[in-house]
Amino acid sequence: MSFVRNAWYVAGWSKDFGTSLRAVEITGQNLVLFRETTGTLRALEDRCPHRLLPLSKGKRIGDTIQCGYHGMTFDGTGQCVRVPGQQNTPQSAYVETFPVEERHGVVWIWMGTPALADPDDIFDLPQFSQPGWHLHHGDALHIRSHYLNVAENLVDPAHVSFVHPTTLGNAASENVPVHVSTSGAVISAWRWIRDAPPIGFFQKFGGFDGNVDRWHYYDLHLPSTAVIDFGSIDTALACSEEDRNRGVRVFALHFVTPVNEHHTIDHWMHLRNTEPGEEAAAQMDGMFRQAFAEDKEILEAVHANEQRPQRRRPIRIAIDKAPTVYRKRIRDLIAAEATEDLGEAVAPSFIQHD
Ligand code: FES
Ligand SMILES: [Fe+2]
Repeated sequence: MSFVRNAWYVAGWSKDFGTSLRAVEITGQNLVLFRETTGTLRALEDRCPHRLLPLSKGKRIGDTIQCGYHGMTFDGTGQCVRVPGQQNTPQSAYVETFPVEERHGVVWIWMGTPALADPDDIFDLPQFSQPGWHLHHGDALHIRSHYLNVAENLVDPAHVSFVHPTTLGNAASENVPVHVSTSGAVISAWRWIRDAPPIGFFQKFGGFDGNVDRWHYYDLHLPSTAVIDFGSIDTALACSEEDRNRGVRVFALHFVTPVNEHHTIDHWMHLRNTEPGEEAAAQMDGMFRQAFAEDKEILEAVHANEQRPQRRRPIRIAIDKAPTVYRKRIRDLIAAEATEDLGEAVAPSFIQHD
């Protein structure tokens, strides 16, 4: 398995979940979600403990789910509250539950050990609640590719000139080196392109016609949330790194959810310090949709090739630093989870004679 389990993953937008039963798959596990009458969202294992019918094929009865096969009924805490045909409820009649939280219209689920779930670890950005910033939800983009391909693409500024030549990149950035750093659970790759013509996006939304300084900061928060901070400012204003708010600044956020080994969903949204109004946001969506469709095409083709027999390992080049660090960090997290049940090493209790 190539999934980090002890993590918050996005299950969808809050508006996706109502009173009806909704099946989702995350890290290869099937869940059923529903909203109780109080509005609380619940996430249960989508598997009846009796004959394993998915509970999502059952029926919502009040705040419970009645299995569609023999009618065993489970409440939002996963406890069985009814077994048709008998009075007692066996202790083993329960389904697992998963912690759920909602933030800024996004539903997060903790897929690991419930006792380790800390809502304070859910991704946040100060600009979500600062005046002058405008949040806009985009789409849920389904990609037939492994999530590591999708996430590494989001810490890879070097692809932009070639994959997105008309929207997010242009030839001015082809040979500009990428800087990489890590800080805690965040891997960053960034570069500035100074004194160059604006890319299509900023011709449209910045109103720039002369040369600009343009930045791209790709921050990948382990395991798979990407924040792309990009913007432009008139070159004559000599903007420093810290002063990016003086320019036209946009955060594109990607919440990358591994569905299984072959399928990933990227819920994306954006935050901007310019062009308020839904019409502008819809136009930005159009540009993002075009760009992300370009990524999807590449990532699905890469994944398809990965499934074929390989005679050689993929080679690495200079621009691969951040993706390489990212894959190693993920491997380390998975390895740590695989051994966490073994606990701390115990001091030897035997008598040593040397
Ligand atoms: S399979 Fe669910 S009650 Fe029998
Ligand atoms: Fe891209």
